[in-house]
Amino acid sequence: MSKTVFITGASSGIGEYLAYAYAKRGYSIGLFARRTDVLEEVKTKCESLGGSAIIFSGDVTDEAKVVTSINNFVENFGHIDILYANAGIGAADPIWKGETKDVHRVLNININGVVNTVFAATPHMVKQKSGKIAVISSVAGFRGLPRHGAYSGSKAAVRTMADGWRYDLTPNNIQITTIHPGFIKTPMVDNNGFMPFLMDVDIAAEKIINAMESGKKSYIFPWQWRLVIPFFKIVPDALINAVYKR
Ligand SMILES: NC(=O)c1ccc[n+]([C@@H]2O[C@H](COP(=O)([O-])OP(=O)(O)OC[C@H]3O[C@@H](n4cnc5c(N)ncnc54)[C@H](OP(=O)(O)O)[C@@H]3O)[C@@H](O)[C@H]2O)c1
Repeated sequence: MSKTVFITGASSGIGEYLAYAYAKRGYSIGLFARRTDVLEEVKTKCESLGGSAIIFSGDVTDEAKVVTSINNFVENFGHIDILYANAGIGAADPIWKGETKDVHRVLNININGVVNTVFAATPHMVKQKSGKIAVISSVAGFRGLPRHGAYSGSKAAVRTMADGWRYDLTPNNIQITTIHPGFIKTPMVDNNGFMPFLMDVDIAAEKIINAMESGKKSYIFPWQWRLVIPFFKIVPDALINAVYKR
């Protein structure tokens, strides 16, 4: 029986490269995202790398769709070994205009999308008495950032939720790991300016998988961020502003 992994946000960036990395390891992969045409290409590449894949096209904010997709995945492969609640978006908060649309979209996808994904998988994992869950947060979750308060807040929220869920999941032999990437070269950050310690996405995927395999509760990377985060939390606002204006 092959090992299985279900990945949300598998059509691009970190999710896509996690899929390729697991395909090379011979996994059966559930690919979930909204763009079916792009998922078709990812599926073909996964198969050429030695994995097998099923596409689930949907929106993580559609709870019923997420539940049906994960149920179908488990029906197909018999079990779910690993889950990545990875789908997410970044958008600026136009707070000075009083427009809330983008803020609600960020919060809904990045928080409720993660809740829908994790809660759809946990009943299967509890039944199996095994499983590993990764929740993709960000180093941005350690401090509210200029123009990105909602994004930072969403990433802090998923970290805190995962910390709480861990108490309930551990007795069921289910691992939950919060991943805090720094800047990873994906379409999400294509238009960003200053990106210290930028990492290629294929390398990032391997690092995330290593963190999952070694059972970490929390994983901050690239490594430089592990040194920066304690200062990042306390540096004066003026410095944060200056960096963001670059
Ligand atoms: N790149 C970075 O520097 C960085 C740093 C820290 C954290 N992260 C986090 O890492 C995760 C992946 O980001 P990425 O950089 O790989 O971004 P990306 O290349 O833009 O990929 C985002 C993925 O999420 C999917 N997605 C977005 N909204 C969705 C929705 N409503 N329902 C289902 N799928 C949805 C997209 O697919 P569709 O458009 O096809 O639905 C796409 O597959 C995000 O949670 C992000 O916040 C990224």
